[in-house]
Amino acid sequence: MKFLQRAFFACLAFICFNNTTAQAQASRYPLIPYPVFLQPANGSFNITANTTLSYHAAFANEAGQLQTLLQNATGSRLQTAGKGNITIQLDNTITQPEGYRLTITPQQINIAAKEPAGAFRAVETIRQLLPAGIEGQHAPLTTLTLPAVDIKDYPAYAWRGMHLDVSRHFFSSSYLKKFIDLLALYKMNKLHLHLTDDQGWRIEIKKYPLLTEQGAWRTFNNQDTACILASATNPDMAIDPQHIIHKNGKTLYGGFYTQEEMKALVQYALAKHIDIVPEVDMPGHMMAAINNYPFLSCTGGSEWGPLFTTPICPCKETTFAFAENVFSEIMDIFPSEYIHLGADEVEKSSWAKSDDCKALMQREGLKDVNELQSYFVTRMEKFFNSRGRKLIGWDEILEGGVSPTANVMYWRSWVPTAPITAAKHGNHVIMTPGNPLYFDNPADVHSIDNIYHFAVVPKGLTEEEGKNIIGAQANIWSERIPSENRADFMFMPRMTALAERLWSSRHDYAAYLQRLSSQYTRLDALHVHYRLPDITGLVEENVFTDKAVLQVNNPIPGLAIHYTTDCGIPTVASTLLAAPLTITDNTTIKLAAFTTTGLRGDIYTLHYTKEAYHAPVTAANTKPGLQCSYYKAFFKNTAALTGVEADSAFIAHNFVVPASINAPSFALRYTGYINVPQTGIYSFYLTCDDGGVLTIADKATVDNDGLHSAIQKSGQIALQKGEHPFKLDFIEGGGGFTLQLKYSLGNGPLMDVPKEWLGH
Ligand code: ACM
Repeated sequence: MKFLQRAFFACLAFICFNNTTAQAQASRYPLIPYPVFLQPANGSFNITANTTLSYHAAFANEAGQLQTLLQNATGSRLQTAGKGNITIQLDNTITQPEGYRLTITPQQINIAAKEPAGAFRAVETIRQLLPAGIEGQHAPLTTLTLPAVDIKDYPAYAWRGMHLDVSRHFFSSSYLKKFIDLLALYKMNKLHLHLTDDQGWRIEIKKYPLLTEQGAWRTFNNQDTACILASATNPDMAIDPQHIIHKNGKTLYGGFYTQEEMKALVQYALAKHIDIVPEVDMPGHMMAAINNYPFLSCTGGSEWGPLFTTPICPCKETTFAFAENVFSEIMDIFPSEYIHLGADEVEKSSWAKSDDCKALMQREGLKDVNELQSYFVTRMEKFFNSRGRKLIGWDEILEGGVSPTANVMYWRSWVPTAPITAAKHGNHVIMTPGNPLYFDNPADVHSIDNIYHFAVVPKGLTEEEGKNIIGAQANIWSERIPSENRADFMFMPRMTALAERLWSSRHDYAAYLQRLSSQYTRLDALHVHYRLPDITGLVEENVFTDKAVLQVNNPIPGLAIHYTTDCGIPTVASTLLAAPLTITDNTTIKLAAFTTTGLRGDIYTLHYTKEAYHAPVTAANTKPGLQCSYYKAFFKNTAALTGVEADSAFIAHNFVVPASINAPSFALRYTGYINVPQTGIYSFYLTCDDGGVLTIADKATVDNDGLHSAIQKSGQIALQKGEHPFKLDFIEGGGGFTLQLKYSLGNGPLMDVPKEWLGH
């Protein structure tokens, strides 16, 4: 064997060994988020009826949490002892408030922490090291085995949050408990509740009873109607019947939390070291309040304006009295250090017309309505501060000037400078950009990857300024999330990627995916209606010249794939796809994966169309690259580009949008030829935010049109070797954009389209 060959095989053996040890480690320590330091060890500790527990008095709650966990597993609580086999000790050398050390040997389990939060995070680590069989309802287990290990752990970011909009659709407090349990399991520490909006007021305020007596209820609105329509093919989209009532001959949707109920929930979350951060969104998004207290707006009512609904009027003292009264009660319910004022999407036209506002602006020297918004936010911040609380506002609070102490929650992906400006200004910033952290956007094959690789600290900040980015959060807006199952589906398992991004300081995506696959049985036991992993390798628009073969790679073991050929929704009763399926006629196949517990994955609709190979064209003097036309305007879809004159043009050698393309809304049209090196069936994968349509040889090969978040669509075309007319239209309606085009040939991997193939 030559040296190089030996080196090659040695290298291969090393890679194989490392993969196997990584896999073994992932199944022995399937922890998400992965600890900062984990030293594997041999042997294991068995928890039996004789195991004893001791703990420092500061950790009584955390010892109780461990007891509850073990009692659910074994049916009995541990005996306490002077020095137990399991100890929870105070360790003042641990500096991070949520930091802990966990040492498991065959003889002993020791948790050490400085603060109760750290001890609790260690309990959740123990939970993930125990078998999934401890979760949910089951027969008592007699012995529990924990792998020996030494862990030192602490979070990278202080703010690791999830948001839930309980206004657009309402969620019961029992669901919020389940939500909190999942946050705790993955070491998240903030639950931001969006408690009020135009569509419903969800928290009892004793001084203003109409807010919930009336404002918590509505007749079905257009969002409900859209959900009801979608429920025809997806039962998760049905409006949750527990929030429908019949009153005075009307069917009403809604609900609210009483103060007592919410206080109990706050305590439940605090015991798991999760702060519930309340948001009462004002001055905009206040229709549910203004409809019942019309004095709040400048006009005496609220209606939908050109952008949003009429806000409350920041130019009347009665408005501040209301706002302060509401937040006083909010602060009595929620001990959170942070209180969220909202302050996003304010339709300020009623302020510009108001005599009260004109007078106030003159008196205070405010030059425009943005400064008026800033006046409102700053006054509210002073009120919050006077009660010892910190204000958070959505990033619009930067417009019109912001105090250096306000906390900015960044969401508008299309204003990428906002978090940078805020952090440079000294404000603390929480990152929740729509892409990829709006979990109401449908998940697709890229979502988990994008979240896992999300850069929490944006480029352009010094190390010191970067410290002002205190963490991140994913938001779940519920306009199109009418049920608990749908909410579970939208945030799980994506949240686990965010949890690891925000807690761990070292990231290994492949190892994370392995550990994630170990989590599903636990989520099954916890009745989480999670989104099943994507089935990869499928193309939506398939072509064949004589026959095609459909082969499905199961993303996790134990799933069954069922399909229909009559366009019916696949159910467990549909045909089982047990072996590769040969297709010889034009067909539509709908398939989905099913777990044994009855969860259904996404439905994949695959069209198969017989077509002849497209003959190449003879293009004279083709030059490298595609022509790219740039249109600086808003387009709803790519068809709207027809007949419009471009603002400028350039030659493109790939589909990376140049930095000079920076209009808030725009379109790009790439035209020319694609020169394929061999005859074959080519698959193209177009991921875009917003829409895009790929046309090759005059055939719409991938149609991913319309205004939407970044989703991938795929299609095939049968091409003879040679040059074929090529067109890619892309529109961006406003917001951060994504454009990516990949291809594959046969069963090959997804690749970038080589620049040598492109000409004009
Ligand atoms: C928001 O999505 N309006 C904060």
